[in-house]
Amino acid sequence: MDTYQNKIALVTGASTGIGRAMAIDLAAKGAELILTARSKEQLDALAQEIQGKGGMAHVFVEDLAQPGSGERLHQQILAAGLDVDLLINNAGYGRWGQFGEFQRDDYAAMIQLNITSLTDLCHLFMPAMVKKGEGGVINIGSSASFLPVPYATVYSSRGTAIAEQELKCPFPPFTVSVRTLARVAPDSPPARQKGTGLWAVRAL
Ligand SMILES: NC(=O)c1ccc[n+]([C@@H]2O[C@H](COP(=O)([O-])OP(=O)(O)OC[C@H]3O[C@@H](n4cnc5c(N)ncnc54)[C@H](OP(=O)(O)O)[C@@H]3O)[C@@H](O)[C@H]2O)c1
Repeated sequence: MDTYQNKIALVTGASTGIGRAMAIDLAAKGAELILTARSKEQLDALAQEIQGKGGMAHVFVEDLAQPGSGERLHQQILAAGLDVDLLINNAGYGRWGQFGEFQRDDYAAMIQLNITSLTDLCHLFMPAMVKKGEGGVINIGSSASFLPVPYATVYSSRGTAIAEQELKCPFPPFTVSVRTLARVAPDSPPARQKGTGLWAVRAL
């Protein structure tokens, strides 16, 4: 889709990196943005940048590593009268190293953010899209989402691959498009071969 006029896109993890870049790109293509992450200052600055170029952006600060945060975000967005057409589950992080190097709290937060909140947000926002007869979900994964990776076992159990299978089932006929984008680490052999990190799109 080249134009997103009159479409509302929710981008999680919009304060930096890939999420920020996707938000800027979608705004340039006409989408109204809902930006979320923990860093209010960075989100406000991005919203101002988008508005300065004639776009529309709303900021909702949420820590998606907290239980119940997906539901809170959903409720705030509904209360603001915003109807999400495109959900981009981008917020996430990974831990690479010996399993015992990282604390249980850290793993719990990573699972909540990378898997539970992603699944919750899909489950909360998709029914309205299905009812409307259109919508989209992009789950940002990783090349490590598709297989168990030594030294990153918790990160590589990320829910994208699982979620995409599950999402296929509960809403037939499937009128909402779901994609998983998986980035290959820039210094991995396939990326070196192509000279850059790859984005693989898995379509349902
Ligand atoms: N860059 C890569 O090479 C690569 C490769 C494979 C996969 N990925 C995946 O792509 C996604 C984006 O990566 P990136 O490189 O752009 O990462 P990044 O620059 O570290 O950005 C991560 C985003 O997630 C947000 N975030 C982190 N913890 C959060 C929390 N508890 N609640 C809400 N938001 C939270 C961060 O914002 P706040 O800190 O403000 O909350 C930030 O906006 C991640 O899911 C990552 O796993 C990236």
